[in-house]
Parts: sequence; structure tokens; C-alpha cells
Amino acid sequence: MKERSHRTPERVDWANVELPETWADRMTRHPLSALINMLRHPFRKRRKIVLPEDLPGRDRIPKYALLEFHHLPNGNYSDRVSRGYITGFERSMLGAMPWLRGRIAEDLADHDVVLDIGSGGGKTVNHLRSKGHSEVWGLEPSPYLLRHACRDYPEDRFVQGVMEDIPFGSEYFDAVSVSFVLHEMPPHYIRKGLAEIWRVLKPGGRLLVGEPSPAHYRSGLLEAIQRWGWRGLYFRTLSRKLHEPYIRAWHGMDFAAALEAQGFKVLTVDEGMPVKYWVIEKTDAAENPAPSPP
Ligand SMILES: C[S@@+](CC[C@H](N)C(=O)[O-])C[C@H]1O[C@@H](n2cnc3c(N)ncnc32)[C@H](O)[C@@H]1O
Repeated sequence: MKERSHRTPERVDWANVELPETWADRMTRHPLSALINMLRHPFRKRRKIVLPEDLPGRDRIPKYALLEFHHLPNGNYSDRVSRGYITGFERSMLGAMPWLRGRIAEDLADHDVVLDIGSGGGKTVNHLRSKGHSEVWGLEPSPYLLRHACRDYPEDRFVQGVMEDIPFGSEYFDAVSVSFVLHEMPPHYIRKGLAEIWRVLKPGGRLLVGEPSPAHYRSGLLEAIQRWGWRGLYFRTLSRKLHEPYIRAWHGMDFAAALEAQGFKVLTVDEGMPVKYWVIEKTDAAENPAPSPP
């Protein structure tokens, strides 16, 4: 087993890093062309994500993230579209994200040093710090989202990286949160990421996960309306029509088995709509030595 380590990554001042424009920035430069292009984009042939050659941190961005998703031109890799995405994602979830952040903060009340994986625009990191957690870090692959997060929340800490290669020492964190990230990753990388989370968590540490629920994704049209009314219809349509390259793989994955294979213990699972939420614990290493990644 690896020794506990206090290694933290070198911090980059992402708020002031120069980032090159991408094709998505060029097509949304003027408000009117932005509107027209964003409305037309879902009906066009999907274009691959292109990372500028001189993009800082380019080598740390995994290839599987370079598929377009959510019908967003160049995905999370542009200045303007990713800025709009932060607000758009929040609104499109109709209050589910503030609810999820509230749950995470409640379930982490006794956990001080926290890592939020896939921190996006930084809202979870900021929320946790506002609730008194002394050291909260956000980990995010997109330099553009990192820059927005650092500009919006200059007192918070954000670093570039991915769940399957976490740039912190072993057993550094009391807790890790992951919200709406795993469904954007192929299952093989989710399993690698769980091994990394195991490594950076202290024994007895917590892992909290909130992801799109299978409840509305799998239900029939009438069933969705009967159970949840117009919200059911809305989230069922969203989950089936929004382009997400790995969503079927996520819903087909046996996440409970992957957690168990890694040695984690699931404390509670709440299959709500639109969020499925897990409270998970890294079992005491002495009681259950860390297995090798599956
Ligand atoms: C739907 S957004 C959610 C953002 C944020 N967690 C929230 O709740 O507002 C998904 C985020 O996960 C990030 N992401 C995708 N693959 C990742 C990986 N392998 N490791 C860490 N973050 C990843 C994306 O760049 C994006 O910012």
C-alpha cells in the first residue's frame, strides 16, 4: 500500500492564462451569429473537438473527451460556449444541481479536506468552502472551464487533471465528490478513476456521487408523466435527445460491482429523479486492504 503523502500539484493562475480561440469561439463572436449558430448546430453533422496546438495543458486532456456532446460546438473546449454552458447546464437541471450540492455539503459536514472531481464552473467547490470546509480543491480537464471557475471564484483552488490520474499524494483527502461526471466517461476509465479515488482518500474517507438517474431514462413516456408529471416528461426527453456519447454505457455499467471490486462500501443509494445519489466509504485499510484495480 502507498504511504500517506502531502503532495499537492503546482498551482497555475488559470484566471490569467492566455487561451487560444477555437472554431466555436469564432462562430459565436457576434451575439446574432452566436444565436443563429447555436440554434442550427444540433441539426448539423457533429464535428470533432479540435484542441488548438498551443493550448496550455493540452497533453492532460484525454482522447475520449474529444467527442462532441450536449450538441455543444467543441464541447467544453472554447471560451464562449463553455461560459454559456455553465449557466445553461444549471438552468436546464431545474434546481437539481443546488439540491445536489446541498446534499453533498450535508453529507460531508465532518470532512475537511475535499476534492471535487470534474469541477466545471466551480460551483460545488465554492459551495463547500462557503459551508466551512477548510481545504477544497476542484479538478477539471478543460482549461477554459478552469479559467471561468478561477475568475468567478478567485479564492477557491482549481487544478487541471482527470479522475483517472489525480495529481495529489496518497491518502490526502477526507472526502471526494463527483457530480455529473461519470456519465461523460467510458466505463474502463471510470474503473481506473475509482482506483485513483481509493488511493487519494484516507481510510474511512467518503466518496459522494450524483449522476443522471436511470429512473426517467428507462421509463416509458406515460410512466414518466404519471410518476413525475411534466418534470418527468422533460427529463426523460432531455436524457434521450441530448447527445451524450457515453450515456448508454453509463446506464449499462454495474457501478455497484465496480465500487465493490475496488473495496468501497456503499452506505446509501437514493435513486431519485433526475439524480441518483450514492454515499460511499473507503473501508478501513487495515480491515480491507486495497485491492488491485480490476
Ligand atoms: C456536466 S459537467 C458537471 C460540472 C460540475 N461537476 C457541476 O456539477 O456543475 C461534467 C464535467 O466533468 C468534466 N470531466 C469530464 N471527464 C472528466 C474526467 N475524466 N475527470 C475529471 N473531470 C472530467 C468535464 O470537463 C465537465 O466539466
